[in-house]
Amino acid sequence: MMPGLPPAASAHAPDIDFVLGLEHVGMLVLFLAFFGYFAYVLARFRQSAHPTASYAGMTSRWSMYVVLAIILAEGTLLVAFEMPEWRARINDLPSSQEATVIRVVAEQYAWNVHYPGPDGLFGRTDINLVASDNPLGLDRRDPSAADDVTAVNQLTVPVNRPVLIHLTSKDVIHSFTLYEMRVKQDAIPGTDSPVWFIPTVTTSDMRIRLGKPDFEYEIACSQLCGLGHYRMRGFLNVKTDAEFRAFLAQESRPTAR
Ligand code: CUA
Repeated sequence: MMPGLPPAASAHAPDIDFVLGLEHVGMLVLFLAFFGYFAYVLARFRQSAHPTASYAGMTSRWSMYVVLAIILAEGTLLVAFEMPEWRARINDLPSSQEATVIRVVAEQYAWNVHYPGPDGLFGRTDINLVASDNPLGLDRRDPSAADDVTAVNQLTVPVNRPVLIHLTSKDVIHSFTLYEMRVKQDAIPGTDSPVWFIPTVTTSDMRIRLGKPDFEYEIACSQLCGLGHYRMRGFLNVKTDAEFRAFLAQESRPTAR
């Protein structure tokens, strides 16, 4: 419906695109109507046709009815379409049983990814353990941390299942953006912002669909967060369930570290 958008690859993407389309069509109608009215008024009330100003002004009320109709249309867009969509994104989070739960910790200028590993438990993290080889500050002495998997700028998720990301930041406000998933959420220091989506097309299927063998889903940062903002770029790898389990098993082996 909306030309110029990146390909859509999540379950809720058509809903977002539909609302985007409604908003743009609505704005186009308003623009054309107001511009048409402006041109009409310029011609209709030109000085040569009305050498003397009218001191009574307009007496009919139709302009007020037009403005009320616009308010009603915009209110309907907000209440009937945008708020339910927002609610579904923000309030109705998938349960941690059905979803793949991942932590993403933003920093200047990288995305740190933390998987709980096969035990499903995130290991303890401690700000004092943060080092260049341990950007998350993961405490490997914690039993639940033993099988945890970490990555930098590479987010790997399984297709056709909810992915629940707990997003936060170590320093300044960043904005976690997955264009093809229609996901955008600020990463705020000291705050856990959950964000979720269901990817519907694996990276390899999208490459075939687009005819681009080197296509990657990108993780972009959409808040100007410092001098290196432009290079705060990661990749989202959408895999089949079997590939994802193989990836986790491979990465969580102690020898893999
Ligand atoms: Cu992080 Cu821009």
